[in-house]
Amino acid sequence: SSKSDFVVVANRLPVDRVVDADGSGSWRRSPGGLVTAVEPLMRKRDGAWIGWAGDATPEGDGPLPPFENDGLSLYPIALTENEIAWYYEGFSNTSLWPLYHDAIVPAEYHREWWTKYVAVNQRFADAAAEIADTDAFVWVHDYQLQLVPKMLRELRPDVRIGYFLHIPFPPTELFTQIPWRRQIVEGLLGADLVGFQTPGAAANFLRLTRDLLQLKPARQSVEVDGRTVRVRAFPISIDAEAFTDLVNSPDVIARAEQIRHDLGNPRRMMLGIDRLDYTKGIDKRLEAFEELLDDGKISSEDVVMVQVATPSRERVEQYRMLREQIERTVGRINGTYGSVGNPAVNYIHRSLPREELVALYLAADIMVVTPYRDGMNLVAKEYVACRQDGTGALVLSEFAGASLELKQAFLVNPYDIEGLKAKYLEVLNADEADLKKRMRAMRRYLQRHDVMHWAQTFVDDMDAARERDGRGS
Ligand code: G6P
Repeated sequence: SSKSDFVVVANRLPVDRVVDADGSGSWRRSPGGLVTAVEPLMRKRDGAWIGWAGDATPEGDGPLPPFENDGLSLYPIALTENEIAWYYEGFSNTSLWPLYHDAIVPAEYHREWWTKYVAVNQRFADAAAEIADTDAFVWVHDYQLQLVPKMLRELRPDVRIGYFLHIPFPPTELFTQIPWRRQIVEGLLGADLVGFQTPGAAANFLRLTRDLLQLKPARQSVEVDGRTVRVRAFPISIDAEAFTDLVNSPDVIARAEQIRHDLGNPRRMMLGIDRLDYTKGIDKRLEAFEELLDDGKISSEDVVMVQVATPSRERVEQYRMLREQIERTVGRINGTYGSVGNPAVNYIHRSLPREELVALYLAADIMVVTPYRDGMNLVAKEYVACRQDGTGALVLSEFAGASLELKQAFLVNPYDIEGLKAKYLEVLNADEADLKKRMRAMRRYLQRHDVMHWAQTFVDDMDAARERDGRGS
């Protein structure tokens, strides 16, 4: 197969292989913000995408053949059941994911998980080394693949390597729990440019190069083995224009009206859309709503809540426990305050098509995004992008990267239930003019800072660094 001069390396391909009831296979869009953000760029640059298709390959099977899907060139990486359990569910999602999100649940470390993390990272690096053209730009993504930059540099010193972390990066005090902390920092330093969602995350990483490797970081870079590694923040975004198209589609508009009608035409509709993840703050978000009903501050005829919780990492213990907890809470609220045909909380535990999500954004008066910690949170940006007429309100956690940009949102501390309740009431009673002023300011910001801007800033930073290094062509 031919070589590519733009290669994306991410744990997941943009599509998941799903086996239908009749045993036939089909493709479904992969979950999460990474795919949402990287896909538009892939189309523009006509690149190659290396990733896992989300299913298990039998032990002993050879590599999987590349294929085209919806105009994208995809290079699947095969993972066995055991690698899925140890590399993906284990080290990626039971060690790194909780630790990087402030250790919201305790991180666990197992040596066999780490061994598979190393082996699978090597497989991704090998694939990238194989596919990348001379002097190609290889862009490695996220916490599942932190060792790839160094591994790839060893195989292919000619290529330019960018790395972007989509989730938060923790302070030294937490990071140094990891028994293999040195290897991870050295892995990342294999890149020419290491990007983070926020300046705080970039600063945490730079400090770590000093604390752990005794390097001497500058404000936005660090010298290692005679190379300069640039380190800075690139807040990720969405394809705002694509949302404008959907929002103007007659089908989507009609569907939004239908949703409000089906909800019994409440005065206010509140909406949450998240992967079902313990970082998202779904539990306290619902509890605050429940307490306002308990206190008689709101009534379920007046205000309804819709919570979409997309199934995620369902074989990981903490995710199962979270699901039980959320569903118990929803059941309790509806048991007390719902009536036939009109639950107080409309709960959906499925992955919904994009059109349906946009219809929900259109229908909702108040979007509640209250993660305990979140790298960025693109749902918040999607909601804003969909509010073309300037109506609607965004309640947003201080601990989401997005809060550094969407400053006109109603910011909350998601751990503070009284604060959440007060914020809900404030928004429910806010005057239209104030809401519009806030929404318009956020929309203006997003129009200038869309995902193409994000990608372009990252690529430009790499090019500029290259010219300074005198490696430019
Ligand atoms: C977040 C992560 C992505 C991940 C996505 C979905 O957005 O940053 O790397 O792909 O969640 O999670 P999953 O484990 O299903 O890939």
